[in-house]
Parts: sequence; structure tokens; C-alpha cells
Amino acid sequence: MAVIKIRNTNERIEGTENVKQFLENEGVLYERWDTSKLPEELKGNCQINDEQKEEVLQVFDEEIRSLAERNGYVKWDVVALSEATPDLESLLKKFEQVHVHTEDEVRAITAGHGIFIIKGQGDTGYFDVELEPGDVISVPVETPHFFTLMDDRQVVAVRLFIDPSGWVAHPFKDPEFEEQKA
Ligand SMILES: [Fe+2]
Repeated sequence: MAVIKIRNTNERIEGTENVKQFLENEGVLYERWDTSKLPEELKGNCQINDEQKEEVLQVFDEEIRSLAERNGYVKWDVVALSEATPDLESLLKKFEQVHVHTEDEVRAITAGHGIFIIKGQGDTGYFDVELEPGDVISVPVETPHFFTLMDDRQVVAVRLFIDPSGWVAHPFKDPEFEEQKA
């Protein structure tokens, strides 16, 4: 179950309904997939080959198609990051910059963990969404955010796209975020 942390107030939001409600108010889609469906060798395994990535897509085929139908996604794939990923450090540095996309950023975590830092609407300011296996999130189009790993430094995620070329990161310079980091 995802946990929310609001950076300005240090408020922590936990529990399915609370998290769902908070994210819904922010226009962020959130749902859960049942990762107990994964075969044993894929549970918690973030060092997977192309064949195993294909297997992940097959296990969640119904969930993927349901999400795609509801929101217009036409392509999907699996990304796996771990210490085995070449240049993980420089990859993460690239990730950790606030940016926007011209389409939703959809991620379904099937192993490991990840964290989205998202700029809230109105007075919310930036908030963190800590994701664990089974968490599915869609950061809306043009919403400033970034993604990074958590302490376990590994993740497997299904990504869905309307058009993969829409998933280019456009940097978003935000003095509000720079102040928070300082
Ligand atoms: Fe992004």
C-alpha cells in the first residue's frame, strides 16, 4: 500500500482509502494489482531477463488491458532497475529532476519499490508517493514530478503509453522545489 508524505507539512497519509482519496483529489489515478499472482521466481525479483519481463506482462494482461481501455493507452512494456543495471547512478541522477510529459506517466510496481515526487495542485506543494508491489499510479499529463528508487534500490514496473514519443521529459524549473531542497 502506498504511503504519502507532504513535504511542506511533514504530514503522512496511510491506509488504502485515505491514500486513494488524497490522490484522487490531486487528479492522480491510483489502484492496486494482486502481485500474489506472480510465479514465485518473479516475486521480489528485480534482476529479470527479457523473457521474464514478457511473463510479467502476461500475468497482468487483464489488468493492463482494463487500464488501457479506460485511459487510452496503446503500448506497454516492463522496466527493471537494480544494482545490476549498468550506470544505475547516472541514470538516477537523470531521473531526479522535476519534469513534465505531454502524456500520463503510468507505472505499476510489480517488484521492489519506487517513489514519485509530485507537485500538488493548489496549496499542497510537493508530495512523495512511496510505492510498493501492487501499487499502480498515473501521474497526469503536464504535472511536474520525478521518480526515483527507495532504500532497496530496485524496482520492476509495467509502463503504459498512449504514444511512447509523448514520454519525453521536459525539464520543469521550479523555484518552489529548489527552496525545499535547500
Ligand atoms: Fe516522468
